[in-house]
Amino acid sequence: MTQPINLGIIGAGLAVKQLHWPALKRLRDRYTFSAVADIDPEKADAITRLVGANKTFTDYRELLALPEVEAVLISLPIHLTAHIAIEAARSGKHVILEKPLAANLEQARLTRDELARYPVKVLVAENMRYRDDLIAARRLIDEGAIGDLILVRMQSLSHVDASDPESFASTPWRQDIQYRGGALLDGGVHHAAAMRGIAGEVEWVQAFTKYGGHDQLTGPTTLSMNLRFRSGAIGAYLFSSTCHNEDAGFLMLTIHGTAGTIEIRDTTSRLLRPGQPPETIVDNAEGGYYGEFLNFYAAIREDQPIVSTVEQGYRDMELILRAIDSAEQATVLLL
Ligand SMILES: NC(=O)c1ccc[n+]([C@@H]2O[C@H](COP(=O)([O-])OP(=O)(O)OC[C@H]3O[C@@H](n4cnc5c(N)ncnc54)[C@H](O)[C@@H]3O)[C@@H](O)[C@H]2O)c1
Repeated sequence: MTQPINLGIIGAGLAVKQLHWPALKRLRDRYTFSAVADIDPEKADAITRLVGANKTFTDYRELLALPEVEAVLISLPIHLTAHIAIEAARSGKHVILEKPLAANLEQARLTRDELARYPVKVLVAENMRYRDDLIAARRLIDEGAIGDLILVRMQSLSHVDASDPESFASTPWRQDIQYRGGALLDGGVHHAAAMRGIAGEVEWVQAFTKYGGHDQLTGPTTLSMNLRFRSGAIGAYLFSSTCHNEDAGFLMLTIHGTAGTIEIRDTTSRLLRPGQPPETIVDNAEGGYYGEFLNFYAAIREDQPIVSTVEQGYRDMELILRAIDSAEQATVLLL
């Protein structure tokens, strides 16, 4: 018999509506909802109704004071995540917080160390760690299906639409940024997680960045990064929120090994080996949101290990923000 967790929601914006709720509503035996907090009362009301909660707050501290709330989902503008996550942990709530966990690397380091002091479970909601296609690709690599890793290529090039109110780029905090790295940090941590999940820890990084090219987005919008993994494999990563591009998927990853290649094109992945027909690995891959809430539940109720730990979230941030350092210093950096 599952014992549901009462999950409070802090920040009732697009990610909750478009990504978290579709996953959470499939987990009704594991999660219940009584309270939602958002400084915007209309947004708080809308999500309160959507999830069937009965308490709505504009001050998240009132939600944290509720004894029946056992855990919180934090889905706030990036610059607010760290200190509210710490307050939640200090209040004795288990925390699932959206990526990236902080507004810069120093704050991420302090947040990681502070969160470790509280006897609660903390999971960074990095969906890439729960995607079935990336998990399957990693398993195939471990089984030797493509031989030794040579090169990992990742690309995410698009001109994001900030005029549609349902688009993430339309949110004011993504346009007037109060965190380092702008769109590069926001999107890039996902790609960092995917590349690290496939090829392991990164040793060296070198990058160039470009600003501008978009009417609404400020900060660096485009990045070209070279990396070397500790395994000796190398990588190339291209990111842009401003390039008009026909091949504009968010997860376009090609993994080359000595005996074959794995190709991921958003939700479809294939194994390509010389002399053999292409094999579909996963069709219609899951976004990973269901998996992250399942893992959070199992961590709390069954003491299972957390896959997307705060340390992992920190290292994703480190790769992107050190790449920006490399561009600013025009140098190759050892992580
Ligand atoms: N995992 C993913 O694929 C994914 C995708 C999109 C966004 N995200 C992450 O989700 C988070 C939220 O992004 P979003 O696109 O939903 O943004 P959003 O702006 O739509 O939602 C944030 C909400 O927080 C509210 N808010 C602001 N200050 C607050 C405060 N002090 N107290 C309570 N509420 C407050 C805003 O009113 C807004 O409703 C970010 O961390 C983002 O990086 C993750």
